[in-house]
Amino acid sequence: MTPDWYDWHAHYADPTSALSLRLAELRTRIGAALDQAPPGPLRAISLCAGQGRDLIPVLATHPRGGDVTARLVERDPRNVEVARAAVQEVGLSGVEVVLGDAARTDAYAGLAPADLVLVCGVFGNISDADVRATVHHCASLCATGGIVFWTRHRQSPDLVPTICEWFAEAGFAEVAVSTPAEEVGVGVHRFLGTPGPLPADATMFEFTERSRRAGPSLTDGHATVDS
Ligand SMILES: C[S@@+](CC[C@H](N)C(=O)[O-])C[C@H]1O[C@@H](n2cnc3c(N)ncnc32)[C@H](O)[C@@H]1O
Repeated sequence: MTPDWYDWHAHYADPTSALSLRLAELRTRIGAALDQAPPGPLRAISLCAGQGRDLIPVLATHPRGGDVTARLVERDPRNVEVARAAVQEVGLSGVEVVLGDAARTDAYAGLAPADLVLVCGVFGNISDADVRATVHHCASLCATGGIVFWTRHRQSPDLVPTICEWFAEAGFAEVAVSTPAEEVGVGVHRFLGTPGPLPADATMFEFTERSRRAGPSLTDGHATVDS
């Protein structure tokens, strides 16, 4: 069964949930990347951005936020509406929220390679083969020295170590990866290579039906980290 991706965001209402802890970790990491970013204009893209709760508040408050041109791509119109309202509320003129298919490489035309690439809440919802393919696409989505922020649950079988190997294979260095004990599954990788051309018209991944995957459903106790 496909989750209702609008309702899924209700898990953020509990500040003690693993999802909220993950969000806090992501915001800290995005802020730290902006602290260290070179002066001048910056570009950010967010794949499957949901309501933009990770990137938008950081850009709204960070001194470099105004330097960032960002594109958030999300398929659920209700989430797009929430994210657009958040952008408008904080007056981020460089941030657009696009209603569309984030899996399509052409969604990032003009902004990739970007300095900040968010792939959050994606790797727990696609096949391992698609995770690997998406990691390799990150070598085209991300600028040299840019950072990819990603998440993945730590439930068995824990794919996080393998995802880190795939990032290394694609030319990334590990900045930080949460430990299994932390449960939140946040990864941060810096791209050391030269971005390849982003193939036009390619599909990087497809969300799978939860019933076809091993693991808990959205409604059980692990739901908050199942992404
Ligand atoms: C697990 S949620 C993560 C949302 C957000 N990144 C976060 O971490 O808070 C996954 C999101 O991906 C969106 N989504 C799924 N497939 C998509 C696609 N092909 N293109 C754009 N958005 C997609 C869903 O609507 C949902 O909002």
